[in-house]
Formats: sequence, C-alpha cells, structure tokens
Amino acid sequence: MKALTWHGVHDVRVDTVPDPIIEHPTDAIIKVTSSGICGSDLHLYEVLGAYLDEGDILGHEPMGIVEEVGAEVTHIKPGDRVVIPFNISCGHCHMCGTGLQSQCETTQTREFDTGAALLGYTKLYGQVAGGQAEYLRVPQAQYGPIKVPEGPSDDRFLYLSDVLPTAWQAVQYADVPAKKTVLVLGLGPIGEMCTRVAQHLGAETVIGVDLVPERLARAAAHGVTALNLEEHDDLPATVRELTGGRGPEAVIDAVGMEAHGAPIGKLAHRLAGFLPDKLAQKAIETAGIDRLAALHMSIELVRRGGTISLSGVYGGAVSPMPLLQMFDKQVTMRMGQANVWNWVDDILPLLSGNDDPLGVDTYATHHIPLTEAPHGYDIFQKKQDGAFKVVLNP
Ligand SMILES: NC(=O)c1ccc[n+]([C@@H]2O[C@H](COP(=O)([O-])OP(=O)(O)OC[C@H]3O[C@@H](n4cnc5c(N)ncnc54)[C@H](O)[C@@H]3O)[C@@H](O)[C@H]2O)c1
Ligand SMILES: [Zn+2]
Ligand SMILES: [Zn+2]
Repeated sequence: MKALTWHGVHDVRVDTVPDPIIEHPTDAIIKVTSSGICGSDLHLYEVLGAYLDEGDILGHEPMGIVEEVGAEVTHIKPGDRVVIPFNISCGHCHMCGTGLQSQCETTQTREFDTGAALLGYTKLYGQVAGGQAEYLRVPQAQYGPIKVPEGPSDDRFLYLSDVLPTAWQAVQYADVPAKKTVLVLGLGPIGEMCTRVAQHLGAETVIGVDLVPERLARAAAHGVTALNLEEHDDLPATVRELTGGRGPEAVIDAVGMEAHGAPIGKLAHRLAGFLPDKLAQKAIETAGIDRLAALHMSIELVRRGGTISLSGVYGGAVSPMPLLQMFDKQVTMRMGQANVWNWVDDILPLLSGNDDPLGVDTYATHHIPLTEAPHGYDIFQKKQDGAFKVVLNP
C-alpha cells in the first residue's frame, strides 16, 4: 500500500510499504478514506526527529471503513464506518475508567515514562504506524473505533479523531462555561475550534490571537474579537482594555512548542533537528528547548485567579517557567493530550443534525490525494495557499 513516511527534517515521502495485518486479537484493519494533517505532525516535521526512524508512517486523524477485525473485536464489523481516536486506549484499565484515556495503563510507553500510545507519533508514544496511509492497523480496536452513521461526508465526523475532543477538552479545562471571557492564543485548526466550542458553550466574549491574516479573518467571521499579534506592541494592555481592565478569566494556549517570537528556542529546535538522535534526545530530555513565547504570554494575559488551559504540545523537560508570576497571580493551569472517548457523547449529538453548529462540514481548506501529502505538509507548515486544515483522501 501507499503511506506517508518520515525521512528527516522537512522530508516526508509517499512510499510503498507492506499492507498491515491483524497482529493481535484486539486489532482491526481499516481502509482509510480521510486522514487529517495536524499541527502535532508539524512538530515531527521540524523538531522531534530524534524519536523517529526513517520510514515511520505518520498520521493520527484517520477515519474509514472496517476491513477485518480480530477475534476479540465485537462492537464493529467489516463494512462499518469508523473514526479512530488519536490516542490508543484499552477502555478497561484504571485510567481509562476515570476518563483519562490519554493515560491508558495498558498502552503507556514505559521506556520513556509517557502516557497512552498514539497513532503515528514517535518512539515516545509507542512508534505505532500511523493513519496517513491506505490501510491502518488499529490496536485496542475492541474499544477505540467510534462507529458513525452513513450519509454525511467524511468531514462531518473526521474531527472526532482529534480536533473536536482536543478543543472540547481545552474549553472544559479552561472552565469556560462558568467564565465570561476567554482568550485563545493561536487560531490554527485547534485554536479556532476552541473559539467555536467556547461560543457554543456560552462564553460571552471570545478573543483570538494569531499572526496569519486569513486565520484571523476566519475567526472574526463568526464573532471572535481577532487580534494580530504583530499589530499590538503591548498585547496585554490591549486585552486588558477589552476585558474591563482585568484580563480574560480563561486563556487557552493552542500554539505549543513552536511559537513565533522565541528566537533562541527556534535555534535550539533547529539544532535538535539536525543532531544525531542520541544527542538530540539528551537535549530534549535535559534542556529547555521549547519556544515558550505563547505559554509565557498566556500567563501574562490571564486575569489574577484565572485559568490557563494548554492544548498546545510542549516537549522540553526543564523549560523555564515564570513561577513568581504564576504563584503571585494565583493561576490555575490544566493541560494534556485529549482524552478522546471521554468527550464523544458530548460532541456526537452536535454532528448528527442538519444544522452543523460547529461548522465542521466546511472546516477543511484542502482535500488532496495521499500521493500529494508532502505538498500538504509544506503548505500547512508555511501557511501558504490559504492552507488551514488539510485532509488527505487515500
Ligand atoms: N492536547 C492535544 O491533545 C492536542 C491535539 C492536537 C493538537 N495539539 C497541539 O495544538 C497546537 C495547535 O495545533 P494546530 O493543528 O492548530 O496547529 P497550527 O500549527 O496550525 O496552529 C498554531 C497557530 O499558532 C499561531 N501562532 C504561532 N505563534 C504564536 C504566538 N506567539 N501567539 C499567537 N499565535 C501564534 C500560528 O500562526 C498558528 O496559526 C499544536 O501544538 C499541536 O501539537 C494538541
Ligand atoms: Zn492531531
Ligand atoms: Zn486503558
């Protein structure tokens, strides 16, 4: 089959690889019909190569049709239409039982002391072959796959794999239903969906910050107060003016480790990307290599006593944090990979009617064949050609 594979910094290719087969009775094989490219994939493209081998198949936002199931998989059968959550979780361990599927104790990668394994996401998370491919082996398929109805186009359901639960969790962790004003830093696919979910759940004022004009315009079009980072020398002052002098009650950081505006971290990332794996791993695990501009800005922006919710991914083990300011402002901070299944029952009803309240049907800007995936990565990373959400159709 054909699959999108990692070969080095800014080097992904479509290779011919062996078809996946059932390896465990809890596996399923799906024929992939749509597969998203995510901001998290860009971290692999740029920074985290030390944890990848050449030929690793990327992709963690797939959906498709079940081809074959193992003996212990009973809730789905060949022919069913399914979305696959990006975290691989068992559904029966202590962590899954408490709704923390991203910490699944059955699939944790003990070598690196990390949480649940992820599809297509480095040795840190199990080095499982990903879903930007014609076929995917789904581990823990007795639990993971989300069965969705026939009828609407793939885009209606595809974002259940990652974007929707990630944004939903970010908004819940920001405690938005109880708060009036929320600010979202970063208006990529995750951040913009956070603004939509926050509006849906009743936030009175939603402010969004980014530096890409098309992304600001997208958010402004549905009532977000959109601020261009580059047009405000003193962003905290501008935001305080918009929020009664106090700042927003909640801030969501949907940027993560590759924030614009952190030149030293950018250099560290470049170096980590080109070092031999062992040295780069050491740098990532013992030094502060994250570009922290967005996280530090979140701490500065949030109201005293407010909440910061981090959905942007960070990776440096000892990235410096302004503890004086965090303690003094009495900030609450919540973070983590999305616990996909924990939010499915809240989200699925919003995808079932004709009204499409979150606008998923028109969320993607690009649908391209799998064979053009390297181009998809290139335009998504460079934010060229209006690329916002790129969906691959194998
Ligand atoms: N927690 C989870 O489960 C989870 C799931 C999916 C994605 N993520 C993470 O969420 C983040 C966003 O993902 P995405 O798909 O939207 O990617 P993206 O890269 O398209 O979005 C990031 C956005 O932030 C903007 N930005 C950069 N620096 C900024 C700054 N200093 N201030 C404000 N905006 C800035 C960029 O212009 C871009 O629009 C990534 O870090 C990704 O890894 C987390
Ligand atoms: Zn993702
Ligand atoms: Zn589990």
